[in-house]
Amino acid sequence: SQENFILAIESSCDDTSAAVLRNDKVLSNVVATQAIHQQYGGVVPELASRAHQQNIVPVVHQALAKANIDKNQLSAIAFTRGPGLMGSLLVGTSFAKSLALGLDIPLIEVHHMQAHILAHFINDEKQSQPSFPFLAMTLSGGHTQIVQVNNYFDLQILGQTLDDAVGEAFDKSAKLLGLPYPGGPLIDKYAQEGNAQAFIFPKPKVEGLNFSFSGLKTSILYFVQKSVKKNPKFIEENLKDICASIQFTILEILMQKLKLAVNQTGIKEIAIGGGVAANSGIRFRLKEAEKTLGWHTYIPKFEYCTDNAAMIGIVGYLKFLEDDFAEQNITAKARYSL
Ligand code: KG4
Ligand code: ZN
Repeated sequence: SQENFILAIESSCDDTSAAVLRNDKVLSNVVATQAIHQQYGGVVPELASRAHQQNIVPVVHQALAKANIDKNQLSAIAFTRGPGLMGSLLVGTSFAKSLALGLDIPLIEVHHMQAHILAHFINDEKQSQPSFPFLAMTLSGGHTQIVQVNNYFDLQILGQTLDDAVGEAFDKSAKLLGLPYPGGPLIDKYAQEGNAQAFIFPKPKVEGLNFSFSGLKTSILYFVQKSVKKNPKFIEENLKDICASIQFTILEILMQKLKLAVNQTGIKEIAIGGGVAANSGIRFRLKEAEKTLGWHTYIPKFEYCTDNAAMIGIVGYLKFLEDDFAEQNITAKARYSL
């Protein structure tokens, strides 16, 4: 069988990443996470583009070195075209275009959300692949979507968030509790020792398969203000129970929508991705649903859940097989529908 080497570049948000794939196998996947945003409690777009400028060349060098591949062996260059922050996307897009031009090899544009979904098809013994058709739920700091996947290139959005992403819901709730950014993993940690029924937060009333998380944030804000007024030490005294109750509410919302999607489509193949897929609660719920509802559930390796170039590379490889190449005058797209 033929050996194709794809260099992939991801720069849509605050991670600069480069990967090299040999066909559907990952040889290297280098991610430079931008620590600068932590002190601001969220991603600052202007700082993100500047950091990408600094990181992109060393990250690509490292990816090639780790893969033990010379740049002249590359078959094509895949890059994230969108959606994402424009200034961030421009860095990866311009870099990929120049390098493809210089090496005189094809350029492949990749949709970031399609990449989160097709990350399941990276050939790795530590992960198994869903079969078509399946339902993909992408959960991260920037996205919350349920997509019906009929094949690699036939994707249909069934529902998405109308406001905040689920990771934002975790992070903003954590911020209200005085926890550092990103607070999602901390809520998860404290929730594991807390009572999820201690406090009740309202669930949004959103029709169909769309999501809304901004109401939860507001109700937590009022809850915190009211409770602290009565007892200034309320949060520290009840942190585990509060975290468990918040996480329970978010998981209820996610599971309710997934069950509705399964009922509407009859599809029981469920593939989860995005940084929030690391959450221990969602993992437990999915295992439970395998036993009680007969679902088959899939979660990629964690490094392929968070933003990474390996997932861009697998889409690049699948498009390479189809000769689906981009023009040299292609432009980044901050808003880019699936
Ligand atoms: O995919 P990701 O690394 O970046 C993008 O947003 O694209 O996702 C990061 C998000 C953050 O909101 C973070 O708080 C959340 O994933 N997260 C978690 C957990 N680990 C990461 N949320 C809940 N529980 C976790 N264990
Ligand atoms: Zn992402």
